[in-house]
Amino acid sequence: MSSIKCSAPGKIYLFGEHAVVYGKNAICCAVDLRTTVTATVNDGIIINSLQGETALDHTLYPYVSTVIETIEKFISFPGVKLDIISDIPVGSGIGSSAAVTIATLQAMNLLFKCKMDLETIAHLGHTIETKIQGAASPTDTYVSTMGGIIMIPAKRKLPTLDCKVIIGNTGKFASTKELVSHVSMLRNNHTDILDSILSTIGELSIDGEQFVSKKAYKTIGTLMDINQGLLDAIGVNNQELNSLIYAARNNNAIGSKLTGAGGGGCMFALAESKHVHKIADGITKAGGESIITNFTNEGVRIED
Ligand code: PMV
Repeated sequence: MSSIKCSAPGKIYLFGEHAVVYGKNAICCAVDLRTTVTATVNDGIIINSLQGETALDHTLYPYVSTVIETIEKFISFPGVKLDIISDIPVGSGIGSSAAVTIATLQAMNLLFKCKMDLETIAHLGHTIETKIQGAASPTDTYVSTMGGIIMIPAKRKLPTLDCKVIIGNTGKFASTKELVSHVSMLRNNHTDILDSILSTIGELSIDGEQFVSKKAYKTIGTLMDINQGLLDAIGVNNQELNSLIYAARNNNAIGSKLTGAGGGGCMFALAESKHVHKIADGITKAGGESIITNFTNEGVRIED
């Protein structure tokens, strides 16, 4: 076959971002917003998306270019054309870089018959993110590869949830590195207080696992709201996120919180189907871009 199309999902943190940096538990979930990569055998290298068409280009396409160089270490090939389309907002806590990395890795793995299994794809994806970002947790690439609702660090897959997920994007870029170092600085100055908050966030994930298993949506929502309060306490919330979070809560969200590093980027709400459009409208009126999606059990996959 001279062409393979693969897609990989984005993710949200149901609980536990930031605390996971300190070894605490977190629950991270694949959502059905996908990046799709079509890899076609070609004479040279072409990378194409709405961002533009180039040859290997570490400025415009750092993740995809590094994937190509990584695959070149496994197998020699004449060249490849990669066509990329994505539903995932870029750089906003939904795992866009992991999804493009994993979808490209798997499309090239299958096209050039490198025989990598999913564990290897997830591991290489993490290596590539670390190389580009300086430091990266393995969570995004693992969840994008495997799909599902995953208890971190144990990598235990939990039963999927059937409620709707509404993502609200503030449109404001925030640097994960800066927010992680903000929490670290706060912890240096107030160690006991921060350790206690981070441990409580970890406990929310441990409790959360039980309620996810029972699909106890109301309690999951309550725990999400508590987690959000604690994220606010450690200084990673902001006014834009808060407006969207309260817009969701005022329109019958089951629970709502930021996802990822915070300081901008995205929040999400869980919702019953009957409240989805009201919540999405509320988020839009509060100044965000809303995206309605679902949890997904499917990680990286071949598309027709
Ligand atoms: O904003 P994101 O999607 O890169 O998520 C960051 C999550 C943190 O826990 C804040 C950092 C990490 O590496 O786990």
